[in-house]
Amino acid sequence: MTVLITGASTGIGYEITRIFARNGYDVVITARDEKRLIELAKNINTKVTVIKKDLSRPDSANELFNEIKENNIEVDILVNNAGMGDTGLFHKSSVDKINEMLELNIKSLTILTRLVSAEMVKKRSGMILNVASTGSYMPGPFIAVYYATKAYVLSFTEAIGEELKKFNVKVSALCPGATATEFSKRAGKLELKGAMSAKSVAEIAYKEFMNGKKVIIPGCFNKVGILFSKILPRNMMGKIIGKSQKKLHEEFMIKNNISGKE
Ligand SMILES: NC(=O)c1ccc[n+]([C@@H]2O[C@H](COP(=O)([O-])OP(=O)(O)OC[C@H]3O[C@@H](n4cnc5c(N)ncnc54)[C@H](OP(=O)(O)O)[C@@H]3O)[C@@H](O)[C@H]2O)c1
Repeated sequence: MTVLITGASTGIGYEITRIFARNGYDVVITARDEKRLIELAKNINTKVTVIKKDLSRPDSANELFNEIKENNIEVDILVNNAGMGDTGLFHKSSVDKINEMLELNIKSLTILTRLVSAEMVKKRSGMILNVASTGSYMPGPFIAVYYATKAYVLSFTEAIGEELKKFNVKVSALCPGATATEFSKRAGKLELKGAMSAKSVAEIAYKEFMNGKKVIIPGCFNKVGILFSKILPRNMMGKIIGKSQKKLHEEFMIKNNISGKE
């Protein structure tokens, strides 16, 4: 059985890869940082295929799928984990970063799922885990595009899960909250205090995904947050999120001596 994991070089994807490997699965790992992928491959005791790929480039999901086919690999489980965020005022944000984020978080995830799921349907067997976020449930001022991409991921995942179940293809969404990885730094904000470890998020994700849970929310704090998002009016939720994201972004800018305080 082979698992394809995107964004395996670090963070949640790295930990998920290690768990699948430990449980005897072969893995195809992909990200941009080939050095880190090779290092990970050396440390796991299973068949590993490393494919360097920048999934924020147009057509990259197609290229990845074709490279996997050229290697005669059949993907039994797909984990769409690679993702990026960006904090700050939307009207001042980098257009290049918006494009990257839409390509990576939405387009590549969708196209890869489309290509791999067709093969799974033919075999009448397969599993797909798409990494969304607690942000999928609420508007995210100061991180607007990222939260919106994750709302897409959750909606898309639940919809295709319904379509694919009659072909024995099981689809789940993972909705982590703040997790201690490189994500926050890369997105230009400080990490929220009390963030879960990538290891515990990955362990919960693996267990519940393999048990067929459709939407996986790791940790009590995140479960409560999502409950609130279902009870509170969305504009109130947006205010709360916006205040927190603004603070984390501004403190990051000050700490790193970056100008442009909003
Ligand atoms: N950390 C959190 O607080 C949090 C909360 C909710 C959801 N999530 C989601 O969890 C997933 C994993 O994030 P993480 O927290 O583990 O973040 P991370 O530590 O920044 O890891 C992100 C992974 O995605 C890969 N990636 C980024 N840009 C890429 C690109 N253009 N092409 C290919 N791969 C790319 C990175 O590898 P390279 O840099 O080597 O390409 C890395 O392996 C993401 O979808 C994220 O949105 C994270």
